[in-house]
Amino acid sequence: MIVCICRGVSDRRIRQEIARGASSIDELRRCGIGDQCGSCHPVLQLLLAEATATVPCANAACACANSDPRTDTAAQTL
Ligand code: FES
Repeated sequence: MIVCICRGVSDRRIRQEIARGASSIDELRRCGIGDQCGSCHPVLQLLLAEATATVPCANAACACANSDPRTDTAAQTL
């Protein structure tokens, strides 16, 4: 899907740049993404957030770093 209409850049290419180390809109702009009208910036921000988000552990009894404190019974007993 094309995200940056001005530059004709797809979400796939944006994810590739993020995987290569781009961690902000300014860094994506240096790659020629989102450096024109800026209307794609909210989606760029979502893709950046998606890349850094941790998925909560599905095992409620797990105490790993990705556990969700709302459902982590081990954290609730501490
Ligand atoms: S749509 Fe990305 S800069 Fe215009």
